[in-house]
Amino acid sequence: MYSFKNDYSEGAHPKILNALIVSNMTQEKGYGNDTHTNNAISKIKNLIGNKDIDIHLISGGTQTNLIAIGAFLKPYEACISANTGHIAVNETGAIEYTGHKVITIDSNAGKVIPQKIQEVLDVHTNEHVVKPKLVYISNPTELGTIYTKEEIKALSNFCKSNDLILYADGARLGSALCIKESYLTLSDMCNFTDAFFIGGTKNGALLGEALVIRNENLKENFRYHIKQKGALLAKGRLLGIQFEELFKDNLYFELANHANEMANLLTEGLKELNCKFLIDSPTNQVFPILENKVIEKLEKKFIFYIWEKIDDTHSAIRLVTSWATKKEAVLAFIHELKK
Ligand SMILES: Cc1ncc(COP(=O)(O)O)c(C=O)c1O
Repeated sequence: MYSFKNDYSEGAHPKILNALIVSNMTQEKGYGNDTHTNNAISKIKNLIGNKDIDIHLISGGTQTNLIAIGAFLKPYEACISANTGHIAVNETGAIEYTGHKVITIDSNAGKVIPQKIQEVLDVHTNEHVVKPKLVYISNPTELGTIYTKEEIKALSNFCKSNDLILYADGARLGSALCIKESYLTLSDMCNFTDAFFIGGTKNGALLGEALVIRNENLKENFRYHIKQKGALLAKGRLLGIQFEELFKDNLYFELANHANEMANLLTEGLKELNCKFLIDSPTNQVFPILENKVIEKLEKKFIFYIWEKIDDTHSAIRLVTSWATKKEAVLAFIHELKK
């Protein structure tokens, strides 16, 4: 059985594993004060072209979201997310557990738009309700769609003029940035948001996310927040080594490109079979709509999510490609579907 269920079914890219082995017996300082973490952070700063940002390496996406959002907000402040947003639907109330309400808004193909934020602001005007303070987006969204540079810029301007923090979850950021039509770079992500993270777990690392904080007001004592939430790893070197490798020789974008290419191959194959899609996703998640009886047959050979019921006889499934997806597996899926 070949899995298209997610982009973390495999371990890590061999270059990362090799770097872990090569550095294995070298003694390093703990808690992210090691040479590899420092190197990784300077590589990312160079790539972004900004030395005044803070970067923290954290082991997972949920953890990064809850530590960042929990740290950025005052006790009575809340965040706004698309109703499809990962923090709203898939993080077991982790944000709410930090004491902050997640206000959900209708999404536009998974995306947050200023008009919907305004509607929330209009009804949260005094101390009898929470104060919306942070806008959570993810790029790509839960539906694999992406923000263009213009869209992020518009959100950024809206947030600035309304004194809101714009925070971007980049669990699959590599995949989004590799879509040329977005005209978006890592530097843009930094300039347009107050903080965002660069996902490693879903792009070739064993685990790890790099949180970038640009807004000066959000930087203070951030390591205390990480430690208090149990996320300051004594062997922080494990994260440092991985990000050092990911940002050496363009590996990060190479891997994301591969995932996108495999998704594209899937999409093209599905289109040739006149397949319809739940949504037009250019990134590494594809959502074809298939007959339930066809899905049942495919499930005998492939693993994937059944995403959404469309009608009594059809469902949308989610196929995810990764940095490690084999072309043969994609072709085998299409071949099976043809049969
Ligand atoms: C957009 C997004 N954010 C956050 C997460 C959470 O990451 P983790 O499972 O590492 O906590 C995921 C995981 O699927 C995700 O897709």
